[in-house]
Amino acid sequence: MINRITSLPEYLEKYQESITNPEDFWADIAKENFWRKKWDKILEWRFDGPDAPQVKWFEGGKLNITENIFERNMFQRKNQVAIIWEPNDPKEKEVRLTYGELFDKVKQFANSLKKLGIEKGDRVAIYLPMIPELAIAMLACARIGAVHSIVFAGFSAIALADRINDSSCKIVITSDGAYRGTKSIPLKAIVDESLENCPSVKNAIVFKRTGEDISFIEGRDIWWHDLIEGVSSFNDAEVMDSEDTLFILYTSGSTGKPKGVLHTTAGYMIFSEYTFKNVFQYNNGDIYWCTADIGWVTGHSYIVYGPLLTGATSIMFEGVPTWPDAGRFWEIVDKYKVNQFYTAPTAIRALIAQGNEWVTKHNLSSLTVLGTVGEPINEEAWTWYHDIVGGGRCPIVDTWWQTETSGIMISPLAGITPTKPSFATLPLPGIQPILVSPEGEELKGNGVEGILCIKYPWPGMLRTTYGDHKRCFETYFSAFKGLYLTGDGAKRDEDGYYRIIGRIDDVINVSGHRIGTAEVEDAINQHPKVNESAVVAYPHEIKGSGIYAYVICDKLSESETESIEDEIRSTVVKHIGSIAKPDQIQVVPGLPKTRSGKIMRRILRKIGEGDATNLGDTSTLLDPGVVEEIIAGAKVDVKR
Ligand code: PRX
Repeated sequence: MINRITSLPEYLEKYQESITNPEDFWADIAKENFWRKKWDKILEWRFDGPDAPQVKWFEGGKLNITENIFERNMFQRKNQVAIIWEPNDPKEKEVRLTYGELFDKVKQFANSLKKLGIEKGDRVAIYLPMIPELAIAMLACARIGAVHSIVFAGFSAIALADRINDSSCKIVITSDGAYRGTKSIPLKAIVDESLENCPSVKNAIVFKRTGEDISFIEGRDIWWHDLIEGVSSFNDAEVMDSEDTLFILYTSGSTGKPKGVLHTTAGYMIFSEYTFKNVFQYNNGDIYWCTADIGWVTGHSYIVYGPLLTGATSIMFEGVPTWPDAGRFWEIVDKYKVNQFYTAPTAIRALIAQGNEWVTKHNLSSLTVLGTVGEPINEEAWTWYHDIVGGGRCPIVDTWWQTETSGIMISPLAGITPTKPSFATLPLPGIQPILVSPEGEELKGNGVEGILCIKYPWPGMLRTTYGDHKRCFETYFSAFKGLYLTGDGAKRDEDGYYRIIGRIDDVINVSGHRIGTAEVEDAINQHPKVNESAVVAYPHEIKGSGIYAYVICDKLSESETESIEDEIRSTVVKHIGSIAKPDQIQVVPGLPKTRSGKIMRRILRKIGEGDATNLGDTSTLLDPGVVEEIIAGAKVDVKR
């Protein structure tokens, strides 16, 4: 397979080449793609200075990413399966779409969007469950140059409206409802609630999935099946510039509302394809399955774009790992003879807890590569995954990356890079990580631990945060001059291997989902009885990190005291969604604040970790006594 590394010496050589001459390295990869017009300049960049960051890859090039998925290979791949869709209910029949069939559906839906007046550059919000139409809708947007903004269908009406409004989406694509395990979620009703506050939205396209009753607003709402009826599937792709926007994806940070991370066409395309085929060592004919939801970046890059650009067969799963039983993942692996399997450490930990027999009763001999993403994987989970799921035979690729990087940055290449439990190992070719001290000094050599930054651009990096370029600079490029700040701490061991330690900012990684503490606090503070709150991460056996909320309330009656925790949880679900629901809520008399009014989160984190033996200097606190009271009422056992 073209551009795929096949041995460790080749990796080392390519890596060196990519550092010595990054532009030629990436141009050599890009030349295999289908361009309407070749680029004029490979790279122009600046992480600092006026209007930074300024990053342009393959400027002057003209292309369309869907032509690289479809037209480029239609001759060989027309009858090959592109997407296998496995429904929530195993009794429902799966759907297999060949590249030819998917192409026709994408073109037809692209024409349907045009019929509604959607043009190049318009933003389209997609709020769909994991059904083939989600992939079809996103590719149709890419086909006509519209910018997709996919919102995970677990976010609340308020969170959806915030995202729609931030980028003034013209249209929302949704379904009547969504199945998840035994539950059915009324997506259209949630969209209806959002749209009361979204003046930019002209239409909602509704795919019929559950058949439940929904309300329909004449003139605004339109059924997917009515819209596409009689629409042709002849469609010429919009010719895009390399740096035209492909999509926006909202993600949480330390402060403020989620930001729209913006990715552009050529760089994203090259990076997602290259990283997919190299990390997973995909071979033609392999069956690949990533269990993520397309609402997150993992699904964008490694269910849809990366695999389809490579010509892979990619499985899309609508359901959950534990329904109808805890063997569902392994039943699917067996059913489709999956070769590469990619999931999150949280799912692995949850399944360990269910017992090995759920795994061992299925035939998993087809597996060749196992992957993890989204959070650090602890050694116990790594070993179980390796031994029980992989039968000791499959390399594990622990892939470190972010919404902002759009693709895998540090990871083993399966079967090529020797692995070590809990280590993401080595950077991919073209990626130049650097560890710095809090003062910004480079930590050279091996056996060091510091803040993980990237010092050179890569094609798939974010270009801006939608509508607020200054915020992009401030968030990622202002901490250390000339470096991209990842927000993660990492260690480089004696072998030069990277181990990701976790976030160094106020972002919590709950079950691999990124949640800003400020966002959760804002939501909690909406409860009329809450005066103030502080949210921190605490260790959680299954989720990796859980959410621990300390809240100061108005005086509560006895019945209010009883119901306050549930009410706060509902408030968070209403404002964000259940993924941000606090695991622990402790009503406290006060918060540990410095005299200047800053909350000392370090103390709250320590208490959440159950360790008050080493709280450090608390004498600078406005009211040191409050710490004792918080420890006394803590929701976890605290060692003093
Ligand atoms: O903290 C790191 C963690 O997930 C963050 C990125 O989250 P998000 O943008 O939602 O993207 C998740 C899917 C790529 C990172 O800053 N993270 C991601 N992968 C790993 C990880 N932490 C440890 N090990 C990983 N392999």
